[in-house]
Amino acid sequence: MKLDVLSTPPPAPETSAAPSAAPAPASGAPSKRVFIHTFGCQMNESDSARMAEILKGEGYGRTEVADDADLILLNTCAIREKAEQKLFSALGRYRQVKLSRGARIGVAGCVAQQEKDKLTARVPYVDFVLGPDAIGKLPEILARVAQRERVVETAWMDSESYVFPHADPESARGKVTEFVTVMKGCNNVCAFCVVPRTRGREVSRPLVEVMREVASLAGVGVKEVTLLGQNVNSYAGGVDFAELLLRTAQVPGIERVRFTTSHPHDLSDALIEAFAREPKIAPHFHLPVQSGSDPVLQRMRRDYTVERYLERLAKLRAARPGIAITTDIIVGYPGETEDDFERTMKLVEQVGYDGIFSFIYSPRPHTSAIRHEEAWGVVPYPVKVERLERLQRRQQELGDAAAQPYLGQIVSVLVEGPSKTRADLRMGRTPENRVVNFAGQAAAGSFAQVKVQGAKHNGYAGIQVG
Ligand code: SAH
Ligand code: SF4
Ligand code: F3S
Repeated sequence: MKLDVLSTPPPAPETSAAPSAAPAPASGAPSKRVFIHTFGCQMNESDSARMAEILKGEGYGRTEVADDADLILLNTCAIREKAEQKLFSALGRYRQVKLSRGARIGVAGCVAQQEKDKLTARVPYVDFVLGPDAIGKLPEILARVAQRERVVETAWMDSESYVFPHADPESARGKVTEFVTVMKGCNNVCAFCVVPRTRGREVSRPLVEVMREVASLAGVGVKEVTLLGQNVNSYAGGVDFAELLLRTAQVPGIERVRFTTSHPHDLSDALIEAFAREPKIAPHFHLPVQSGSDPVLQRMRRDYTVERYLERLAKLRAARPGIAITTDIIVGYPGETEDDFERTMKLVEQVGYDGIFSFIYSPRPHTSAIRHEEAWGVVPYPVKVERLERLQRRQQELGDAAAQPYLGQIVSVLVEGPSKTRADLRMGRTPENRVVNFAGQAAAGSFAQVKVQGAKHNGYAGIQVG
């Protein structure tokens, strides 16, 4: 039997995802409907889930059809210019729903935080704007909007008064894998990045809250959790991040623990030791390097060298042989020469990444890179595109070659459900987070042994043998 290998990478920042299935109302039919369009990273996905839960308490059921909605929420991303543009084209479409049925339109997320009242000034049909810290205020904001007020809520909450919204475990019933937010914000100063400005300073969620949420998810059948934060390994909610991982792995019912995303400077010995000690910590580490050239890293204000990065990685690989490493890379950063770029290509070959999210540098408002880019030297757009394509092509070749030895092997897969692209197949992930589409009957939430019959850079295809 020949099966296609189907690509289902984890959502990269800036991709826009279709809204997920509407949770069933607790009792009776909801009187109103909300449509949530989520752009951006897993943090936004998680925030959208929390907003849906809060709105459920206000009598809103979730719809996947914008034309049916009484309320349209756009949860936005500002990481690159393209992400921001997507908001404005989506807004243009939803305006029709407002005209035809009087739907309210709200903008949440990182563009909301960045633009604040400039958004309501620029787009007259936007009813309200709320930053990531204001999610808990949604009911109050909607009450004000009902009184015909245009609301802009983008104040920061200080760390003492910030309460992380709780996930409703009922929304996770039937799911195998879930995200758990453990911190918000970022204290780093990467020169290209808007996140510190759109998400504020780091605040860690207290350990007891995280543990309670993980246990409640395990109670409804969730088997795998991904601890979520912009800079998750600087967690400081009572214990350090290594200890948080170890404790999460001990929650009864939890079989695998993942996390995203990390900064190389927090890859501590304690964290490496946790990988050596606890098999439930899945053997996958997303460790964004951004560039393989030290002068570029310096201009990016990433506080490590390539040598230091490789040294940490070697230690991690020694502690957990076979661990999959993925990364983020920016090409065409101001001042990036052909030689700098070649160093990135060399690093990619040297490390042997399991996957790379690669992006063309996009100048962002209020960042230090945008102020310096003329002086450092703007890389012409065609050069950026050519470098991106070269990098992606090389990574694909390397990934395909690295996958070949798995042909004929048996891999253990945590089954998530039907394959997203072929209804007659099942889909699951290996411990290394590789997607496997396979012929078989294994139930969601169970572990299946799958014989690999097709192996490519973006996953495997196979048949269940146990
Ligand atoms: N906190 C995470 C990154 C979150 S943003 C970390 O430090 O790893 C995800 C990725 O988007 C970054 O790793 C970077 O590769 C990319 N990115 C961020 N700002 C960008 C910009 N201005 N242009 C292009 N890519 C960018
Ligand atoms: Fe942005 Fe750097 Fe913070 Fe990541 S670590 S969110 S790239 S400032
Ligand atoms: Fe985008 Fe904000 Fe996430 S800028 S990548 S939605 S933190």
